[in-house]
Amino acid sequence: MKTSLRTHTCGELTANNIGEKVTLCGWIQKIRKLGGMTFIDLRDRYGITQLAFNAETNPDLCKQIEPFGREWVIQVTGTVAERYSKNKNIPTGDIEILAEKITVLNESLTPPFTIEDESDGGDELRMKFRYLDLRRNPVKNNLLFRHKLGIAIRNYMNNIGFVEIETPMLVNSTPEGARDFVVPSRLSHGEFYALPQSPQTFKQLLMVSGFDRYFQIVKCFRDEDLRADRQPEFTQIDCEMSFITQEDILQTFEGLIKYIFKEIKGIDIEPIERITWHDAMKYYGSDKPDARFGMRFVELNNVLQHKDFKVFNEAELVVGIVAKGCAHYSRKQLDELTNFVKRPQVGATGLVYIQCQEDGHFKSSVDKFYDQNDLQAVAKECGAEAGDLILIMAGPRMKTQTQLCQLRLEMGSRLGLRKAGEYKLLWVVDFPLLEWDEETQRYYAMHHPFTAPKPEHEAMLESDPGHVNANAYDLVINGTEVGGGSIRIHDKELQKRMFKALGFTEEEAQKQFGFLMNAFQYGAPPHGGLAFGFDRMCSVLCDADTIRDFIAFPKNNAARDMMLGAPTPISDAQLKELGLK
Ligand code: AMO
Repeated sequence: MKTSLRTHTCGELTANNIGEKVTLCGWIQKIRKLGGMTFIDLRDRYGITQLAFNAETNPDLCKQIEPFGREWVIQVTGTVAERYSKNKNIPTGDIEILAEKITVLNESLTPPFTIEDESDGGDELRMKFRYLDLRRNPVKNNLLFRHKLGIAIRNYMNNIGFVEIETPMLVNSTPEGARDFVVPSRLSHGEFYALPQSPQTFKQLLMVSGFDRYFQIVKCFRDEDLRADRQPEFTQIDCEMSFITQEDILQTFEGLIKYIFKEIKGIDIEPIERITWHDAMKYYGSDKPDARFGMRFVELNNVLQHKDFKVFNEAELVVGIVAKGCAHYSRKQLDELTNFVKRPQVGATGLVYIQCQEDGHFKSSVDKFYDQNDLQAVAKECGAEAGDLILIMAGPRMKTQTQLCQLRLEMGSRLGLRKAGEYKLLWVVDFPLLEWDEETQRYYAMHHPFTAPKPEHEAMLESDPGHVNANAYDLVINGTEVGGGSIRIHDKELQKRMFKALGFTEEEAQKQFGFLMNAFQYGAPPHGGLAFGFDRMCSVLCDADTIRDFIAFPKNNAARDMMLGAPTPISDAQLKELGLK
């Protein structure tokens, strides 16, 4: 990495270079004094190299470095020498540079936290000084990983004929369903652009244009509540294809995913299993199941609704899971689980347990209502064996499924079943087309309004809209929705019926989506696609807890940029110019 200022980087010199005269540049990580010797660890993006200064042979140089501090930027020239005490942990650990000449390229304030793998800086502080945090190996390596993944994806997509095309950032609302970030127009007061929630409509227009294989690694913006796997601005690998069926899409992108795992992780993945949305809900209580472990739901209405226990009898769903080998749980541990499901984040009213004891007896929290035969019948239904613990919840179907899902994940974590480095991929298919909203008393598109119903369900769009399934699919890895997409409607009449099912009048549909519907009159090909969350893909592949770790300058949980202080008020003059005052 030779430039005018350096001959080598701080990560490349080894015993092979002993005796060479070199010049390095970098930041001072550490200064140590040992008797007459001073050592400096010099760091750059590529690694750390030790510089050695001998007070006896080179007193002037030692005097020069006396005021140096952490993070100063220096240039050093010297000779590569074998190190007396070697460091086997780093590639340059066999050598050091016997310094002969030093130039200070820049001084530095003392950094507010240590720039080491394990930093003493808290989250907020490190966010505020993100440019310093990015000097640390773990954070730096995440960005390098992201780069490598991006390049691999671009290469693969290019090789199979996909064209990367940029779409605008100043647009109208897109129909993804989150809130938009809006940008006021200076030239048209009172009017606003929206930042794209995704390039959805543009990629469909590109299909009308004939670019039958499009992709784009693209920023998207959504003003929604933040979580560990959500940022207000994030990146999608957005893709669309023409003249395809759902099967073509799943196969094409299974190819991409396989390639990524092989290229980036060195892992050969199995063919990706498919599960219907309905089964995902029934067996895991989630449309993004963590299938690294079983603990599948067993519905127990039939075996538990015949006695005098009102809670179960009145429930739409009684459902349980088996925690293998947990029958020995103490009262305290069981109370802990009950408290877990009662937390507002889960919101359950209670938890019933059955301990299948080693001696063949059953002990339960509902002994008053169920005898040993009843409990044995439950154990049989669940496939539970002596030593196992059955955990049961009851209530409205969807709500109870979601609550038990959280308990299942908690038990999975407690039992060490959600192993880092193990990957279980799923295509979740056959999503419902529409979702009923109690509050507004209308249907919403579960994906977006251009998603095609399954051909065999089309006829039910008017008569039984709630039971129409869509040609829509998600890719789930270890319980995270990494991507999703659908086959689109390209037929004008079907699109009209879809808008009607969504409660749009023709005028409303025309006003909001007229540009797309008009374009579709000029020969729209059959098409479909999907988008992967690029940040999420990085975090899942690295078993990280949050996508923030893979974004150079992320926002905090209040959607603020701690470094910039954004968002900020703007001046009166600016407000006036934009017609906002
Ligand atoms: P969807 O809304 O499912 O589909 O988004 C696709 C993928 O983007 C990721 N994602 C996010 N990542 C980080 N922060 C967020 N706030 C965020 N929101 C979504 C997820 C998700 O699976 N236009 C359609 C795709 C299509 O139909 O082709 C779309 O945007 O990983």
